[in-house]
Amino acid sequence: MAAAAHFVFLVLLLLAVAATTQPASAATAKEKETHIKVYWHDVVAGPNPTAVQVAHAATTNTSKSFFGAVVVIDDALTDGPSLNGSKLMGRAQGTYISAGKDSVALLMNMNFVFTAGKYNGSAVAIMGRNEVFTAVREMAVVGGTGVFRWARGYAQARTHTFDLKSGDATVEYNVYIRH
Ligand SMILES: *[C@@H]1O[C@H](CO)[C@@H](O)[C@H](O)[C@H]1NC(C)=O
Ligand SMILES: *[C@@H]1O[C@H](CO)[C@@H](O)[C@H](O)[C@H]1NC(C)=O
Ligand SMILES: *[C@@H]1O[C@H](CO)[C@@H](O)[C@H](O)[C@H]1NC(C)=O
Repeated sequence: MAAAAHFVFLVLLLLAVAATTQPASAATAKEKETHIKVYWHDVVAGPNPTAVQVAHAATTNTSKSFFGAVVVIDDALTDGPSLNGSKLMGRAQGTYISAGKDSVALLMNMNFVFTAGKYNGSAVAIMGRNEVFTAVREMAVVGGTGVFRWARGYAQARTHTFDLKSGDATVEYNVYIRH
């Protein structure tokens, strides 16, 4: 009796140890790093804008940094720099807020939603500071869905073209994701 009870206790103990150690080691063994390069197209002008200002402060129009503007985006993400000539890989959906009082520094809050290629159906959430006249801006990848569950990482943005007249911009995004 005592030996049987002892054996049962030992089995339960081993099961408990296995339950607490296995998921962690399995997660680290399977983790990989993915690099995605896409071009992000902010179309503010014309009849079919993909970036629309939805709010601003009374002082936004007189602010050199557009401080207080809130813009909702559904911007195309393509594999090349041409909006018309490249393959559509997905959409950048979210908001950016002009959060810099003295410099054009946006708070980006967006999902990169992939609709083509091997990441079709998956998304990553990007949040960070985007001082748009700086050569390279770095933002955080704070999570993901689909193949990007448990994601973390960073994104680097470089302006490809910016039309001062219309305000339209094309930005190269390199996203590095561990998932
Ligand atoms: C700011 O400018 C926009 C158009 O550029 C206009 O719609 C809006 O009424 C202006 N707001 C103020 C507070 O002047
Ligand atoms: C893209 O297509 C639109 C309308 O289809 C056109 O007005 C525009 O000139 C094109 N842009 C380029 C760079 O080809
Ligand atoms: C992406 O996935 C959806 C849903 O599975 C599918 O309907 C669509 O055809 C796919 N798109 C591409 C470009 O593969």
